[in-house]
Amino acid sequence: MNYDDNEKISMAVIKRLPRYYRYLGDLLENGITRISSGELSRRMNVTASQIRQDLNKFGCFGQRGYGYNVEMLYEEIKKILGLDREYNLIIIGAGNLGQALANYGNFKKRGFNFIAAFDKNPEIIGKKAGDVVIQDVDGLEDFLKNNRVDIAVLSIPKTNAPQISPILVENGVKGIWNFSHIDLHTPDDVVVENVHLTDSVMTLSYKLSELENK
Ligand code: NAI
Repeated sequence: MNYDDNEKISMAVIKRLPRYYRYLGDLLENGITRISSGELSRRMNVTASQIRQDLNKFGCFGQRGYGYNVEMLYEEIKKILGLDREYNLIIIGAGNLGQALANYGNFKKRGFNFIAAFDKNPEIIGKKAGDVVIQDVDGLEDFLKNNRVDIAVLSIPKTNAPQISPILVENGVKGIWNFSHIDLHTPDDVVVENVHLTDSVMTLSYKLSELENK
C-alpha cells in the first residue's frame, strides 16, 4: 500500500472517494486501463487540480505522460473505503424504505449482503424483503447472538429507534446506517452514518432559488 497509514485523510476527501471509485469502476468495465487527471476531470466535472490533490494524499501519484493506472487506483480506493471485504447487513423496519433498500441489487455487488430483515407488523412478518424473509423484531436479540452482523439499517420511525439501538450495541453491532430522523447516542466504538434524503432535496431547493435570484 502506497498510502501512509499514519497520515489521516480528511473526511472531505473520504466523502469524495466513493464517486472516484464509481467512475474508476466504470472505466475498468469499459476496458480503460489508464487515464490522465485532465480526462478524469472532464468526465467527473471536478477540476484536475482537485483530483491531483485528493489522489496524491494517499500516494496515488499520476505519472507525467502516463496518467493514473486505473486498476491500481481503483484497488487503492477500495482498500481505503474498506470495500475489500464483505459486510453482513440487517434491516430493522421493512416498510417502504426497508423494502427499497433490500431490493436494490447494487449493494450486493459492492459486498453489502442483506442477511435478515425485521419488523413488528404481523401483516408483513413472513413476507419477503429482497431475498430474505421478514422476521419478528422480537427475535432480533437472539439473531444477533447467533449471527455476525456488521451493519444494521434503521428504517423505522424515529420514536422507535432509541429502543432498538441499545439492543444492537449490546449485541456487538458496530455500524448503524440510520435513516430514522433522530440522533442516536452510541458508544465511541460504534459508528453511525445518518442519512437524510430531505437534506439533499433542501440543498437542491437552495440551488434552485439561487438560480432564480441570479
Ligand atoms: P413505513 O411505515 O413504510 O415503514 C416503517 C416500518 O417500520 C413498518 O413496517 C413498521 O411496522 C416498522 N416498525 C416500526 N417500529 C418498529 C420496531 N420497533 N421494530 C421493527 N419494525 C418497526 O415507513 P417508511 O416510509 O419505510 O419510512 C421509515 C422511516 O424512515 C420513517 O420514520 C421515515 O420518516 C424515515 N425515512 C427517512 C428517510 C431519510 O432520508 N432519512 C427517507 C424516507 C423515510
